[in-house]
Amino acid sequence: QRTIYLSRHGQSEYNRLGKLGGDSDLTKHGHDYAIELGKWVEENVMVHPDGTPRPARLWTSSLLRTRQTAKHIPHPKIDGPNGQEWINMRLKSFRNLDEIYAGVCDGLTNEEVIEQFPEEAAQRAKDKFRYRYPRGESYTDLIARLEPIAHEIERLREPVVIIAHQAILRVLYAYFMGYPREQCIGVSVPLNTVIQLTPTSFGCEELRIRVLD
Ligand code: F6P
Repeated sequence: QRTIYLSRHGQSEYNRLGKLGGDSDLTKHGHDYAIELGKWVEENVMVHPDGTPRPARLWTSSLLRTRQTAKHIPHPKIDGPNGQEWINMRLKSFRNLDEIYAGVCDGLTNEEVIEQFPEEAAQRAKDKFRYRYPRGESYTDLIARLEPIAHEIERLREPVVIIAHQAILRVLYAYFMGYPREQCIGVSVPLNTVIQLTPTSFGCEELRIRVLD
């Protein structure tokens, strides 16, 4: 298993408005992150320390904001792992990487959820890990739908850059760090930051790189 680079998408219109879910565009600030991330990946992921090209992978969710965030990462042809031609950082999008679906609360702000669904907000506050939005998902649901992806990552022979979402990256981070499942809800996954996880014999060594302020 190789190094895993986790990043949220750049700031989206919904992030700016404090709304849950949706499929909104990046803001100007979000596009700035995409540009900086492109340069960072080119300099830090796509080359070996000796400057030769390093084959790596690029995975996003199926949502607009993660695909837009990947837009400035170049995808040159290089010699691949078996000496075959390889399109480096070729984008692969997975619906299993889409953000937790908030069901009837999708598109609302947290304040609107408290106003319109006070019982639901209280239940979620009591047990965020197991709470499932009406007609939506819970963190336990995410763990189930991310399991195949986590196993696929473990089998990779190349590093992978994963551009996804807050709740999704909490679950993946907790998995690779070997945390108890319930602790994933407490993981901090800020915007504008790459979390680099390098596997060790016990779990992963972590480095957080702030790519844009
Ligand atoms: O607010 C951004 C977001 O990605 C929402 O789309 C999602 O519902 C939420 O974060 C997940 O975080 P939390 O579980 O803390 O509400």
